[in-house]
Amino acid sequence: MSTRKRVAVLISGRGSNMEALLGAASEPSFPAEIVAVISNREDAAGLGLASRRGVEAIAVPHRGHADRQAHEAALSEALAAHAPDIICLAGYMRLLTPDFVAQWQGRMINIHPSLLPAFPGLDTHQRALDAGVRIHGCTVHFVTEKTDEGPIIAQAAVPVLAGDDANSLATRVLLAEHKLYPLGLELVATGKARMSEGRTAFSDPADASAEQRLFSPERQEPVTAVPTDLEHLARFTP
Ligand code: GRF
Repeated sequence: MSTRKRVAVLISGRGSNMEALLGAASEPSFPAEIVAVISNREDAAGLGLASRRGVEAIAVPHRGHADRQAHEAALSEALAAHAPDIICLAGYMRLLTPDFVAQWQGRMINIHPSLLPAFPGLDTHQRALDAGVRIHGCTVHFVTEKTDEGPIIAQAAVPVLAGDDANSLATRVLLAEHKLYPLGLELVATGKARMSEGRTAFSDPADASAEQRLFSPERQEPVTAVPTDLEHLARFTP
């Protein structure tokens, strides 16, 4: 019997992170399989992408439900039919009720396009530019009641370049997201990262190290002209 964790991905739109997860899960050695993709919007492009890849793609539109609870009841029904162990939010643009979040505590993760706790919420790239940060990035975290505040599992750093606008920055952050989300899911699916007392606990200290949790897609090779004891750090410096 397969020991791969069953994963449902919740989306609302494009679905590029969902695709990255599908790509990772297409490797038999990956510790999770995507058993369903569910969107709260019928017109989400990601639904078509998922079904073309042979994954069950389901629309559970929020429209037509009296309230958030009623929509979540329909969502829970769709989820139950696929018995997921883990939910991955991937551009799911609908707030979840505390009850739903509590039900999936420690088993629901999200990807956010900033280095949390900086820039929770929307328009993260423009806000990062406006703040003048030199390093931006993305975060995979457990979902808790407060939006974008759950324990951090993994982060990727993306340098802000001269001349960046919100689009160019978003494009580079998205590439990092596509690498980071499978890594974050892998850590959770293997049990190497789990939520404990409001924090992420790593079973292997190496998984909590910068090497696992923080990388820069811009410069991954070691910088050679630094003393050996700094080499490890320099590798992750954008
Ligand atoms: C991503 O930037 C993700 O971090 C954010 O919403 C966006 C979704 O993009 N939560 P996609 O649908 O995965 O392409």
